[in-house]
Amino acid sequence: MRKVLIIGANGQLAFDLIKIFGDSYEIIKSVRSDFDVADKMAAENFIKNCAPDVIINTAAYHKTEECELNPEKSFAVNAIGAFNVAKVAKEIGAKVIFISTDYVFDGTKEYFVESDIPNPLNVYGVSKLAGENLIKIANEDYYIIRTSWLFGIHKSGKGNNFVTLMLEKEKNGENIKVVDDQFGSPTYTYDLALKIKELVDKNVLPGMYHITNSGSCSWHEFTQKIFELSNLKPNLEQVKSADGPSKIKRPKYSVLISENMKKQGIESLRPWQEALGDFMLEYNKK
Ligand SMILES: NC(=O)c1ccc[n+]([C@@H]2O[C@H](COP(=O)([O-])OP(=O)(O)OC[C@H]3O[C@@H](n4cnc5c(N)ncnc54)[C@H](OP(=O)(O)O)[C@@H]3O)[C@@H](O)[C@H]2O)c1
Repeated sequence: MRKVLIIGANGQLAFDLIKIFGDSYEIIKSVRSDFDVADKMAAENFIKNCAPDVIINTAAYHKTEECELNPEKSFAVNAIGAFNVAKVAKEIGAKVIFISTDYVFDGTKEYFVESDIPNPLNVYGVSKLAGENLIKIANEDYYIIRTSWLFGIHKSGKGNNFVTLMLEKEKNGENIKVVDDQFGSPTYTYDLALKIKELVDKNVLPGMYHITNSGSCSWHEFTQKIFELSNLKPNLEQVKSADGPSKIKRPKYSVLISENMKKQGIESLRPWQEALGDFMLEYNKK
């Protein structure tokens, strides 16, 4: 049986990857206490010892506001860490899969395909783009998966994801303010994990793949849908980015469209609204 190493195994995407790959692959999980991706020797020892066929690196430092204050840590984890993992993967003949972000783009056009030139606006985006570039140097057998606005059943390393944060704010009776001038594609980690497995199973060409649920919305529209599906009517106010709480630059548009999946005969994911509906059903079972 082929072995898949999932790095960042306590994370929200990793939770679904473990479930989905677990059907037909031997799963090896690693968390930060097993090895820190930024520690080259530790990464090398762990990975060589378990000798996986495929490595999925979900580890990231992605608290965007914090990244701006800690560029060293951002680069250590998101860029050097990505390089360390990809390099050992190359040495043992394993495929490496890196999860990147819509934040590599500047948001100056309404959607971005894989061949568009990245131009990140913040430290997080720059560090992930550096990770992408370093992987390409380290190991030609790579999939770089750019995705966006993740929500999953398992808590993210950041704590709440956007959906659970909105539900928590409603529960606490807070007035909720959400920006209506940033647009992207919400993505269910379960759907993303299924698609990553499809790429691996079909052994599609190495390269860059944009994978998100279909369709797009503003954060405000996303929030409206969350509450509509939950039959809740909180005090929800739409605000502009300039008046929002974020102190850093974020892309206005970060919708990702995939030309590369189409070329490989891989279908796009279902609409985000359907995926959110399924998420809510799962969430309400908890
Ligand atoms: N969340 C989003 O909306 C979003 C959007 C676009 C792209 N992405 C990308 O998608 C990937 C998965 O996101 P996610 O939301 O599933 O993240 P997550 O829930 O935060 O999981 C990431 C995991 O990585 C671990 N980790 C962090 N630093 C590490 C290090 N130095 N060495 C080893 N492990 C480390 C974390 O462990 P600790 O908890 O111990 O820190 C955490 O369990 C990330 O690469 C992220 O950049 C996310």
